[in-house]
Amino acid sequence: MKNPSLTCTRCQKEFPIERVHPRCSSCNEPLEVSYSRLQPSPGRHGEWFGLREGTLLERYQEFFPFVSIHREISLGEGDTALLRSSVAAGELGMEKLFFKNETQNPTWSFKDRGTVSGIEHAISLGMGKIGTVSTGNMAVSVAAYGARAKLETYVLVPSGLPKEKIGPIAIYQPHLIMVEGDYGELYFKSLEIGEKQGICFINSDVPFRVEGSKTIAFEICQQMGFHPPDYVVVPVSAGGNLRGILKGFEEFHQAQLIDRIPKMIVSQANGCCPIVASFEKGRESVERVLNPRTIAHAIENPFPPSGNQVLRKLKENGGTAVRVRDEEIIEAQAIMAREGIFGQPAAAVPLGAVKKLLAEGYLKSTDSVVCIVTGGGLKYTAALEYHSFNVRKVGIERIEEVIRLTDGE
Ligand SMILES: Cc1ncc(COP(=O)(O)O)c(C=O)c1O
Ligand SMILES: [Zn+2]
Repeated sequence: MKNPSLTCTRCQKEFPIERVHPRCSSCNEPLEVSYSRLQPSPGRHGEWFGLREGTLLERYQEFFPFVSIHREISLGEGDTALLRSSVAAGELGMEKLFFKNETQNPTWSFKDRGTVSGIEHAISLGMGKIGTVSTGNMAVSVAAYGARAKLETYVLVPSGLPKEKIGPIAIYQPHLIMVEGDYGELYFKSLEIGEKQGICFINSDVPFRVEGSKTIAFEICQQMGFHPPDYVVVPVSAGGNLRGILKGFEEFHQAQLIDRIPKMIVSQANGCCPIVASFEKGRESVERVLNPRTIAHAIENPFPPSGNQVLRKLKENGGTAVRVRDEEIIEAQAIMAREGIFGQPAAAVPLGAVKKLLAEGYLKSTDSVVCIVTGGGLKYTAALEYHSFNVRKVGIERIEEVIRLTDGE
């Protein structure tokens, strides 16, 4: 797929692929990479003639506009497991429930896919500086990949970010700048500064981060033998990841590798769900949430920059949007852990959504459903306080007896 350009997701206005600013100059909506010409299909339905080896970007190079790929910037992102659920599936009475385990990425979240793609683009433009605005997973990912690619890396975080969140970013030694002022405004401000100072800001929903997220869909298709699931459930904040996953399915469909596109389910925390709220009211744009509050901090964005585009795409795709309460998120986190998957609260929101949609009758027990487990549980250990654990303390002389007593418990 070549001849790429950037197209406005709302008014379709076209911009050159080299444009640094990732939003439309007319309507300020997000741009996305579009391809005027499809390369010969890399396969046909059920078959894949692409590479099986190599880095993430090399494996799917037909679906990226890169002329050359710098494999040395890879940290081994992608190729994460698609795990068939037994415990959660059993509890919910489902037959085909799966978890796409993005915690296996080099910095323990899906963000690494979009970061590597964003950096490859920055390099292709000859830019030696990258940056991001984030409080969590994306900051860690950009700092790590910036170090790997030996680029000047700017990470802007809000002032007052606790020490335990600073350390995992600072360890990679980026230019870490704590900014006082409105954090929502910082997203737009950073893009302006980036344009002026030649810094490629790889923020949450910029076109090349969205391109990276396509690979989640590509892998799911391959892992399911090119029979994609009925539904894919995604925890949504800015909206970049959901946009990318859906774009990935659409491009595989266009390349005739799959014969249908799954329905997407937007899942958000009840305490900060601007997209779900607009979807429920049938609105076409998102409204700012005034007092966001949820345990799922990673998806606590009160005014998502791709919110309107997610609403547009959801309507076209025919999926739905659902809110999940904090208690349900913690319960879902515990259920996943009982089958060996430790996601952070945000990553447990999809399972909470599945449970709710089954109860409402939207989902059937025979539907095939993939939940995207977006980030690892060790990123936010404070959530462990909300669980109750059964830990015994015994003297060494009683250990045998106690183990015997626990047998069959
Ligand atoms: C763990 C986790 N899940 C989901 C998301 C939401 O992704 P997006 O902002 O692309 O909607 C994020 C974003 O930071 C995240 O860190
Ligand atoms: Zn536009």
